[in-house]
Amino acid sequence: MSGSMVIDGGHRLYGEVSVSGAKNAALPILVATLLTQEECVIEHVPFLSDISGILEILRCLGANVVQHEDGTVVTKVVDETACTAPYELVNKMRASIGVLGPLLAKRKHAKVSFPGGCVIGLRPIDLHLKGMAALGAEIEIEHGYILAKTNHLKGAEIFLGGAFGSTVLGTANVMMAATLAQGTTVIENAACEPEVQDLANFLINMGAKIQGAGSHCIIIEGVKELHGARHRIIPDRIEAGTFMAAAAITDGDITIKDAKLEHLMGVVDKLREIGVRVDKVSENKDGLDNIRIRGTKSYKPCVLTTLPYPGFPTDLQAQFVSILCLASGISNVTEKIYPDRFMHVAELSRMGAKISKEGPTLMIEGVNHLSGAPVMASDLRASAALVIAGLVGRGETTVSHIYHLDRGYEKLDEKLQKLGAKIRRIPSSIS
Ligand code: EPU
Repeated sequence: MSGSMVIDGGHRLYGEVSVSGAKNAALPILVATLLTQEECVIEHVPFLSDISGILEILRCLGANVVQHEDGTVVTKVVDETACTAPYELVNKMRASIGVLGPLLAKRKHAKVSFPGGCVIGLRPIDLHLKGMAALGAEIEIEHGYILAKTNHLKGAEIFLGGAFGSTVLGTANVMMAATLAQGTTVIENAACEPEVQDLANFLINMGAKIQGAGSHCIIIEGVKELHGARHRIIPDRIEAGTFMAAAAITDGDITIKDAKLEHLMGVVDKLREIGVRVDKVSENKDGLDNIRIRGTKSYKPCVLTTLPYPGFPTDLQAQFVSILCLASGISNVTEKIYPDRFMHVAELSRMGAKISKEGPTLMIEGVNHLSGAPVMASDLRASAALVIAGLVGRGETTVSHIYHLDRGYEKLDEKLQKLGAKIRRIPSSIS
């Protein structure tokens, strides 16, 4: 369901909220199930339209897929003949480029639509292709598709970095392909994001031999085959960070349950710097943390730069810009991952924010209030930033095109309502 979200600003958030499974871990992990014909059971998969999209791609590639109400997804490949990920599906979601590695490794052929650019910037895939070529795949681009084939992938030493540093999905793609390659693969400058580690843990459960995931050097010793496995997805650190921002901006007092504090240190550091209180309250039996966030009435400005993990994540930049719009001074925010990821800026300006931009840097002059307005969501995280701004905007904010939010946040409106936000969804037919 899409449409708009209407928010009456000015209500403090308080109470408890649980974090869903991480979208960006679940997507590559679901794709990795293509590496075996045995059954895989993935738990804590969030209900999101991006997840539905990847499950559709798995079905199109010969997998039986059942998504249970408790968030468990059971997959089993029953037919390995299909090797094409069509434009209509890949176009909806860039994570589908992740099928390239598993298809090449397991089926020796892959025809995957070239994903193209998107609203947050160019998003090239040259590093994915470089990695596959280094493993011995022959690659051509024809009629908008990547055509890749191999007799057998061979382990190699690969430096996986470009102008903007490491690549998360590129590392995932090459790591998946290398699990079934002959010999040893070394990925240098690998992405260290927790989602890459989670994928590596799943692959290890499937019988892969992987060392070093979570560091800049991952070593994969190819095995003949992988088997089915059960795995539980890590908590979504970006969803947790988004609730932290929502609590902070409303001068709220909330406890975020079942998160992983360790995955959020770059974010917590900035929150504390601007004046938010962040405390670990307790740890549950699964080793997950309950984290209390206490806001204040006025925040200090700061200098914030997005960086690969463990630095401040680009996926929380927009949400923090919303907070800094109300800080008592001038903040600088530099985007080092996606230099064009600023679609929220024009919309926040409609709410009274004072932001200027030079290259990939924003200068934000804090104002003493935002005012509710009709604004348009343009991508997932920009939409979240607008909802967060709407929570404190004076009067009513209507965020339209919220299908972007449903791609990556599970029941965001319901979770915010339980925390005391006055937010409602209007379906597109009547908005
Ligand atoms: N890049 C290249 N060449 C490549 C691949 C990437 O130059 O072949 C560049 C990108 O253009 C960017 C930088 O490298 O400047 C990092 O991109 P990366 O490949 O790491 O991004 P991704 O793997 O495509 C994932 C997340 C994004 C998140 C980024 C960065 C998924 C499904 N997506 O994308 O999440 O912003 O890592 O952390 O895991 C989101 O959830 O809203 C989202 C966009």
